[in-house]
Amino acid sequence: MSQVHVIDHPMIQHKLTIMRKKETGSKDFRELLKEIALLMGYEVTRDLPLEDIDIETPICPMTAKEVAGRKLAIVPILRAGLGMVEGLQTLVPVAKVGHIGLYRDEQTHQPVEYYCKLPEDVDRRLVIVTDPMLATGGSACDAIAMLKKRGCNNIRLMCLVAVPEGIAKVQTMHPDVDIYVAAIDDHLNENAYIVPGLGDAGDRIFGTK
Ligand code: PRP
Ligand code: URA
Repeated sequence: MSQVHVIDHPMIQHKLTIMRKKETGSKDFRELLKEIALLMGYEVTRDLPLEDIDIETPICPMTAKEVAGRKLAIVPILRAGLGMVEGLQTLVPVAKVGHIGLYRDEQTHQPVEYYCKLPEDVDRRLVIVTDPMLATGGSACDAIAMLKKRGCNNIRLMCLVAVPEGIAKVQTMHPDVDIYVAAIDDHLNENAYIVPGLGDAGDRIFGTK
């Protein structure tokens, strides 16, 4: 069974509260999401292995540390996952970025695929899937399945707000994928929106409503 990491750092919680407020506009919403993604990135990458390398400082030679092994890929689920990419890229500038396009059908709430472009060597990378909202879990599960079809076997899911049913779905369908969230909210409403949540993340990022 995968692990669920709730990243409850006070600065993340404070920024998330501002994002939740209905009066927060798109500019602030985007900036806060970027900042939170950077902060969450510390935890998502906390266990990356290090290796020793020999370098010279201006003073003397030394054995120092650098990140070893597999490189990273950031894969946002369009559209809202895009809002978390820049923060993670600030932390890991060499990470490659793939894109998976999914939207939820308004009636059925089932994800519909419309785009997929991944780095050629994605199967050899640690993949961080980003999406602020983990609601029914359908979109995240489909995105992870698409990555597994491309041979990925080291995947982490990074969301902002989740509900228990979405977490349970990912854990059932993809027990190898650890989930990182800033908050676990109460439930889904009749339109499969997270309650209390923060509304429609994509619309708030891009100002489409
Ligand atoms: C939202 C959100 C997730 C999905 C979560 O995307 O960004 O991708 O819904 O819901 P689920 O867990 O029930 O699948 P949406 O379909 O609204 O598309 P958008 O990001 O383009 O607005
Ligand atoms: N997608 C969103 O953007 N918000 C929700 O609450 C649920 C799905």
